[in-house]
Amino acid sequence: MLSIVPNVVADAERRRKIKKNMSSNQVQPKLIIHGGAGSSLKSKGGLVAVRQSLHTIVKEVYDLLKNQTSAIDAVIRGCQLLEDEPRFNAGTGSVLQSDGQIRMSAALMDGISQRFSGIINVSRTKNPIKLAQALQSESDRVLSDYGAAELLRELKVPIYDPLTDLRLQEWIEERKDNFKKDMAGVIAEDNLPANDAQRGTIGVVALDLEGNLAAGTSTGGKGLERIGRVSDSAMPAGNYATNKAAVSCTGIGEDIIDQCLAPRIVVRVDDGLSLEVAMRRSMKESYDNKRDLGAIAIDATGAIVWGKTSEVLLAAYHDGDRIGDTLEWIEDELIGYCC
Ligand code: GLY
Repeated sequence: MLSIVPNVVADAERRRKIKKNMSSNQVQPKLIIHGGAGSSLKSKGGLVAVRQSLHTIVKEVYDLLKNQTSAIDAVIRGCQLLEDEPRFNAGTGSVLQSDGQIRMSAALMDGISQRFSGIINVSRTKNPIKLAQALQSESDRVLSDYGAAELLRELKVPIYDPLTDLRLQEWIEERKDNFKKDMAGVIAEDNLPANDAQRGTIGVVALDLEGNLAAGTSTGGKGLERIGRVSDSAMPAGNYATNKAAVSCTGIGEDIIDQCLAPRIVVRVDDGLSLEVAMRRSMKESYDNKRDLGAIAIDATGAIVWGKTSEVLLAAYHDGDRIGDTLEWIEDELIGYCC
């Protein structure tokens, strides 16, 4: 029987092993999270509020990593907190599709087991990442639509409506205009300019004390899309991890899929490139192909690297000493790194 409650016995055993290895093999945990990519934040108020949300979540999740939480559990918790923040386009605050419904997608990948799990176009639930978590140990690890609804029933997950007033207003405004925009705004802000289309997703990448990596990504999609459209966030293209590197992507899903972005970066690191070079090369290719996207990544050495072709990337990180972010990073550089 599937359970949405973490397996406490397995978890305790994992922690026991971590403790045993701590004195000899301990590494400094690293963390990076994102709340989407897109065109510039509307206002300084928007920037301050987004910064506060991201930094608060980074702090809480980094404390977990410091206290021996595994990378995958930290990623799940980080995604849950970002899904619960109505400002971002995932979980509560997800954008509406063309028919006025919310359908969310999420994925989780554990770098040690190299297992991917995902949920596609699920409705009426609070935390899609928890469904991806429940599927980690199953033989059928990616479920969509009916399968996702069945899973919710099986897990006895309470019904939840992730709709917010701001997202409903955005959709009503667009409907008046007969859906002229390709996609909804990623950050829920009052009075977004009409052409301020942005690309929303949340994601978390972590390296734990034991040196294990994990990545998780969750989204409400592009918004205003046709029914049945599948997001990159529930595909390896948008979320991928091995024991050498882990990546979560954001941006226009179709662009991320066309670049097969997350595995493109990770496999380059697996093959011996540094994360910085792998990210730079992958972003240069994305730029040359006129893609609109961003990515966050950590490798097994603890390097934290991010990249974007979009105007802004809403990411924040903890390198063990301090919290930093990319909110005002708008220069022409395609990549950035902190350590
Ligand atoms: N990257 C999110 C989406 O396009 O669905």
